[in-house]
Parts: sequence; structure tokens; C-alpha cells
Amino acid sequence: MSRTLIVNARLVNEGKEFESDLRIEDGRITRIAPQLSAQAGEQVVDAAGRWVLPGMIDDQVHFREPGLTHKGDVASESAAAVAGGLTSFMDMPNTNPPTLDAAALQAKYDAANGRAWGNYGFYLGASNDNLAAVQTLDPKTAPGIKVFMGASTGNMLVDNPQTLDAIFRDAPTPIITHCEDTPTIDATLAEFKAKYGDALTADMHPDIRSRQACLKSSELAVSLAKKHGTRLHVLHISTADELALFERGPLVDAGGKVLKRITAETCIHFLRFDRSDYARLGNLIKCNPAIKDANDREALIAALAEDVIDVLATDHAPHTWEEKQKPYAQAPSGLPLVQYALVAALELVHEGKLPITRIVQKFAHAPAQLFDVAQRGFLREGYWADLAMVDNTPFTVRREDVLSKCGWSPFEGTTFRSRIASTWVNGEQVWDGQRLVGAPQGQRLAFER
Ligand code: DOR
Repeated sequence: MSRTLIVNARLVNEGKEFESDLRIEDGRITRIAPQLSAQAGEQVVDAAGRWVLPGMIDDQVHFREPGLTHKGDVASESAAAVAGGLTSFMDMPNTNPPTLDAAALQAKYDAANGRAWGNYGFYLGASNDNLAAVQTLDPKTAPGIKVFMGASTGNMLVDNPQTLDAIFRDAPTPIITHCEDTPTIDATLAEFKAKYGDALTADMHPDIRSRQACLKSSELAVSLAKKHGTRLHVLHISTADELALFERGPLVDAGGKVLKRITAETCIHFLRFDRSDYARLGNLIKCNPAIKDANDREALIAALAEDVIDVLATDHAPHTWEEKQKPYAQAPSGLPLVQYALVAALELVHEGKLPITRIVQKFAHAPAQLFDVAQRGFLREGYWADLAMVDNTPFTVRREDVLSKCGWSPFEGTTFRSRIASTWVNGEQVWDGQRLVGAPQGQRLAFER
């Protein structure tokens, strides 16, 4: 294992930004202090005043393995993630086959072993008929249980009210939900089809997959969680309307204990795009839930600032370019995001909308706390050395630099003011600012519960 001393860094951690050096030994951070002197055999990296952050932990990705690997796989998508400063990921169960029991879950861990550039956890999926697998899940084997309370990519809708109630009653881990009311969407889609026939276009997506559908389903999830005292995390909040459902205040107490039973996540695309972008990007930004209005976007940024939304993630959901070229009704929903999510979030810092400490809190600390991730998500002595070094030098996203297997990005042509100069996973450098280096270092995430 290599030994590294990072000097002249500007560390960002736990609400503070400060100058320090940082020592890595045997994969872990062993010392955080100014003016450390290099020891024999230690590789010295001069950060030259650049930010060094804990690597981001993405609690919502679709890496497409098994079964959908023409869109992406654990190796390709985790490579894109570390190039973007994301060092851990939690992957969704809407694969083929879907992850509906302990054996399917274990198969995913086995397949990721040795191939993942970042650290990995896999969710168990719920369905209308796998209640026993949900009830008997070993909570150390998955970050949580994913419940599609609205139909999306994959056939995983849970719409049997008794089953839904039992899942909320008995889940041994946090429940994470996709909330969009399918009957509401189906009714609106039928109206649009009656009116426009086959001439539906991507800019209609936020009206078809409407704010009412999001609100209705999120209300149901929150009411079930309140009824049963469930640990609920509502994913990808996309509207201002849903924010009233969530408690304002810190996620944890001074000792790091999670205070909220019901938490919320939003995603980077809801903070960087709005309705006006459909004209330019069309199906490329078609996703579920839909990107909505400029005022939703501003409300979501404010909700991160005010601790109404607890976690920032990506919902990285690659589809091929060819699939995205189909007419609106046939084009799949989802967009690749991991590679540029952190630099996109840092634009909010450059715009003066959020401090850098807030990005780190929502994208690294909070997912670790919320899912009981052991020894990651912070710059702390004794913790694993998962780090992202950020250089505030602008760059423009080019298609040829995209590492996701789908080979395109909704950010092509966008100039970001920060770039990822280096990423370390478990103490080893895996990204040098230009290319992947070394070998995959990802380990299975440990859930301390
Ligand atoms: O846009 C989406 N894409 N939303 C989802 O819920 C699923 C995801 C996918 O897997 O493509």
C-alpha cells in the first residue's frame, strides 16, 4: 500500500474550510494537521492551496448491472464516478433481473468485487410479492430497501396497498422511495395523447409526469412512515410543493446521531436544469421525476441551504444515445451524471448560492450518516482515505472525455469553473485529473447498524 502526504491543502470538512496537511497510510487518513514533515518512503503531493474534500457518496445510481450492460456496467460507471470525485455509490435494484432477494443482492456484490473504482453498496428492491425478502433482509447487506411508489424504468411498481403498508411496517433498513403517483400520470398522459396524438414532445414531460403526481405519492409515503415510525428517505425531490412535507433542521445531533425519521434527497439535474432546457436538450434530460420549473429549482437550492433537504445525489441513469434519439414517448427516462455532478454542484458555490461546506455536507457527510456507512464520508483520522482534490481552473465538457459507457453527457459544451484534479479511493490515487490511474480500489461499503 502506498503512503502519501498531501501538503498545502484547503480541507473542507464538517462545516469548516481550513488549511492543513493530510497523511494517508494503509488506505486510511492517519493525520490531519498543518506543517507535517514527510517521512521516508512517503509520496508528497503538493495541493498548492486546492480544495481537498471527502469523496462524495452517491446514494442513488443506476449502474445497469446485471442485464442492461449495453448502457453501463459497474466498471464503466464507477470509473466515471471517480473521475468526478465520487468515491462511493449505492446502486439501484431495477436491473435485469431485478434485485429482489438476498441471492440477487449477493450476486451483485460478487460481480462488483475487484471491478469497482469506487466503494459500493446495493439496494434490495421491493415488489408486490417479495415481502418475505424485505422482512428478512440482513440490514448489514444493503443500505436500504427501494420502493418504486411510481412506475419508472423497470417493472418494479409497488401499488398493492396492503403490501406497501407491510413494507413500511416491517422494513429492517431505511426505505427509500421513488414517489410519483402512476394513476395520476396515466390519466394526464391519456389527455395529452387525446389532444396531441403522436406529436408529444419532451417539453411536455413535466406536465405529463406532473407536480401533482409527485406530491400525491410523497404525501402517501410520508403518511405511511408517520403511521409506522419508518425510517423513510424520499428520493429525487423535484418540486417546491413537496418541501412542506419535510422537517427543517439538522440531520444529526452534536454526536452524529440521526435526528430525523423522514429525510429527503434532491439531485443535481434539478439544480442545474429547468423547463427552459427542454428546447435545447429534449429527451436527453427526460427523466423521472421530470425536471420542472425555474422556481422549483430555486426552491430546491434554498431547501439544501435551510436543511429541509438532507442529501444531494445524482440518480445517474445512463441510456444510449440511440435510445435517447427515439420520439418522446419511446425515449427512456434518465441521464448520465456521476462524472460532472460534483463540478456542477460547485457552480452553486461559484454563484454564491451555497457554501462549499454545504455541498460536502449534503453529498458526503449526510449519506454516510443516514445509511450508517462505516468510516467514510468525512476527513477524519482513522477513516478511509476517500478524497477528491478540486482545482478551480475552468474546463468545458467534451463528448470524447465522457467515461460512462453511453458516451454522452447532458453537460457537453458546458464550462465548469472547477475540475477534479485528483481522486483517491481507499488511500490509492485512481484519477489524476486526466485519466484513471492504477487499478480499481473499491470495497464493499460496511453499514454499521
Ligand atoms: O429517470 C429515471 N431513470 N428515473 C428512474 O426512476 C429510473 C431511472 C432509470 O433506471 O433509467
